[in-house]
Amino acid sequence: MITIKSPREIETMAAAGRIVAATLALVARHVRPGVSTEELDRRAEEFIRSHPGARPSFKGLYDYPATLCTSINQEVVHGIPSPKRVLSEGDLLSVDVGVWLDGLHADSAATFPVGRVPPEAQRLLQVTQAALMAGVGQARVGNHVGDIGHAVQEVAEGAGYSVVRELVGHGIGSSFHEEPQIPNYGKPKRGPRLVAGMTIAIEPMVNVGGPGIRTLDDKWTVVTEDGSLSAHFEHTVAVVENGGPPRILTLADRGPGVNL
Ligand code: MF3
Ligand code: CO
Repeated sequence: MITIKSPREIETMAAAGRIVAATLALVARHVRPGVSTEELDRRAEEFIRSHPGARPSFKGLYDYPATLCTSINQEVVHGIPSPKRVLSEGDLLSVDVGVWLDGLHADSAATFPVGRVPPEAQRLLQVTQAALMAGVGQARVGNHVGDIGHAVQEVAEGAGYSVVRELVGHGIGSSFHEEPQIPNYGKPKRGPRLVAGMTIAIEPMVNVGGPGIRTLDDKWTVVTEDGSLSAHFEHTVAVVENGGPPRILTLADRGPGVNL
């Protein structure tokens, strides 16, 4: 069932989303060679819990043990933070975080360079972020879920990369994963129709090599089958009334006068 959120619920999700964005910004400030992913996770959890009514969405979800997913280089998503995983110059680190606030969730991810990274890694980040924003731009009343995936796929494949197909974006609200699924590929005008008040997480995972993935023996970490580099960017958005581009709920609070 696809649930439509009230304006009030969307404001709560935007408040959760601002904590998500601030958490990613906090993590970004600590990403450097020599830092462990466990340290990043600890800082993120402490920061989220410092907000009254807020807690990490992931911890305990499907028995996941941490606040962040931290996925390095050929790891696509769901890497578990560990004191043994220490960042090195030239790595790419994907950080995914969700926050529950007063009964509703928001979800976002970004991939960060660790120090200086090779040109191909830099390009992968730019393309994956552009693919996300192309998908976001299609989340309008009257469009279909397939329009989002199609836009993501065009940008990623147009740059010579592949999109992961076995993992998808999702509706989000009082449950972390809600209907509909939001694939990062598709055909225009196919799939469920978008309606005002829908809140969805759009989250392209883009590989430099082929689209194939597999899960490691820890049962969580998803890696590229061919060992190629992967990036992940995600926003939670709300489809709005007037047919315009959606409200992005996982942006930093930039103060009054800025309504993005
Ligand atoms: N952000 C991930 C997603 O959208 C959620 C991680 S699920 C968890 O699917 F179980 F790892 F928390
Ligand atoms: Co998500």
